[in-house]
Amino acid sequence: MTTLTSVIVILTILTLTLTFFVVDAKQKKQKLQIPFPIFGGGQATAKPDFDTASIGQWEILSQNSGVSAMQINLMPTNKIVVYDATIYRLSRLQYTKGMPCVPYRDDRTLQNKIDCFAHSMEYDIETNLVRPLKVTQDPWCSCGGLTPDGTLVSAGGFQDGTRTIRHFGGPTCKGNNCDWREYKNTLQEDRWYGTQTILANGDFIVVGGRRAFSYEYLPKQEGLKTERIYFFPFLYETSDIDENNLYPFTHLIPDGNLFIFSNNRSLLLNPKTNKVVRTYPVLPGGARNYPASGTSALLPIDLSNQDNNGPYKAEVLICGGNSHDAFYIAETKKTFEPCLKDCNRMIITDKVPKWETEQMPSSRTMGDCLNLPNGQLLFINGAQKGTAGWWDADSPNLTPALYYPERKNGQRFKQMAPTKISRMYHSTSAVLPNGKIWVAGSNTHDTYKDIDKFPTETRVEGFSPPYLDQTLDKHKPIMIDEFTGKNLKYGHKFEIQFMLPNDVGNNDLSKADIKVTMYFPPFTTHGYSMSQRLLLLNIRSISTDRQGLYSIVALAPPSGELAPPGYYLLYVVHRSVPSTGLWIHIE
Ligand SMILES: *[C@@H]1O[C@H](CO)[C@@H](O)[C@H](O)[C@H]1NC(C)=O
Repeated sequence: MTTLTSVIVILTILTLTLTFFVVDAKQKKQKLQIPFPIFGGGQATAKPDFDTASIGQWEILSQNSGVSAMQINLMPTNKIVVYDATIYRLSRLQYTKGMPCVPYRDDRTLQNKIDCFAHSMEYDIETNLVRPLKVTQDPWCSCGGLTPDGTLVSAGGFQDGTRTIRHFGGPTCKGNNCDWREYKNTLQEDRWYGTQTILANGDFIVVGGRRAFSYEYLPKQEGLKTERIYFFPFLYETSDIDENNLYPFTHLIPDGNLFIFSNNRSLLLNPKTNKVVRTYPVLPGGARNYPASGTSALLPIDLSNQDNNGPYKAEVLICGGNSHDAFYIAETKKTFEPCLKDCNRMIITDKVPKWETEQMPSSRTMGDCLNLPNGQLLFINGAQKGTAGWWDADSPNLTPALYYPERKNGQRFKQMAPTKISRMYHSTSAVLPNGKIWVAGSNTHDTYKDIDKFPTETRVEGFSPPYLDQTLDKHKPIMIDEFTGKNLKYGHKFEIQFMLPNDVGNNDLSKADIKVTMYFPPFTTHGYSMSQRLLLLNIRSISTDRQGLYSIVALAPPSGELAPPGYYLLYVVHRSVPSTGLWIHIE
């Protein structure tokens, strides 16, 4: 009896002391030394992913966001910058007081008019409220990306915007004073439907565009003109009857080269020497780029070999699209060819790379492919018939497909719950810090249409992938903001603290049960997310206080080739259940 009592007393004192230390350390904002190492690193096999019967859940986040989300980028300010085209001279959001309307000349009537509608807005992901922004040089079908300092830079567009480079946000403005800063004629060539990608040094390359068989590098300094254009015959060679070479898919791979896929061919471009260093096998089956509009993403880049400097593998996905003449048929006959259903992946760092093909649960054009925080991918939005272009598609694909890259061919896809809202031409989606998917846009018209088979969409939805199912909440890691390193240096160690509040005393956790991932928030338009990448970081050690508090020492990616400088969302993933992401910066 007395022994038991004393054990209880001692245990209580221990618990209180530990609790005191946690609270105290938090109050003093000091790092807590977490004493007990967790074993089972490389050798231990991970326990299976936590399972759920959920096939995802849909909700409406906004009934009217005012501007149809044709082009979007999640910003480190937790706002999504959205813009559409100015050419419609219409949206469902007007400028607020103090934002003068924009004079323009109507080409049809030759009259001078004013445009008081916002064609861009900032969407607050916490409140779901919007703030109108002003963009005047038409950014229709342009490209963009986040600079290392968190500025959104967008290039090209239509007519007066086709050679414009425009900037938004970043350190030079704060909060509600931010608006677009536009610089006309700073590109050397018209870029309508070009692709922009961040490179290892933080610079952007802009590739292609309509009848633009070239690329150029954006200047580091805001407002300057690009230095020159580089002729790129590959884009000319891959242009066919329907073009199908627009919005080329580009991915920066671990050796610093740029993988470029256009129509059905691909190569590696060295952005330092501007030489083509390798070409890949043709991907048969149809056309993948705009307007056939398949989609592409890199599989997660695994840095667990970082201790011995790699080698790092890069594997690409190219899925869906349509036949080479589907756009021509849609435009001339208004009949809509069934889209491609195949999904192809290739290890582009292999000595002898080959396309490996598998079928998706449904065919898709104009869909997005997003890297989820836990390493899975999501195919979402788009149509099952037709192509990109106004009135050129039918049979919306309402059903997202979850993709498990680790599984065997034939078992990688899982159909999710369908939505009720069509997201076809000019629709977009984005991964939010909390792991939810923000789904918006869709406008298959040259104006805003309220009543139509496919009305212009300004409603915003949220899609919660299965990992957000409530039954998994108890396994969800909670990162401790103040004890997690947020200014990463290439190749340096940093610390992450997290809690598994419902897993107190779980001595069963092994290193293999935890992953740390880092996500670059892409610029998404026309079924492609530019600069998107997810990295799986190297974990050096995990320790615990046996009270549900854990500390990870992780290695930051070694270089800009692996992770271009800038803002990323950092996640701790516990047997496929991700924490909420924290913004970090790497340079
Ligand atoms: C690749 O695309 C071109 C251009 O449309 C086409 O002529 C060619 O047949 C395609 N190749 C294959 C193998 O599908």
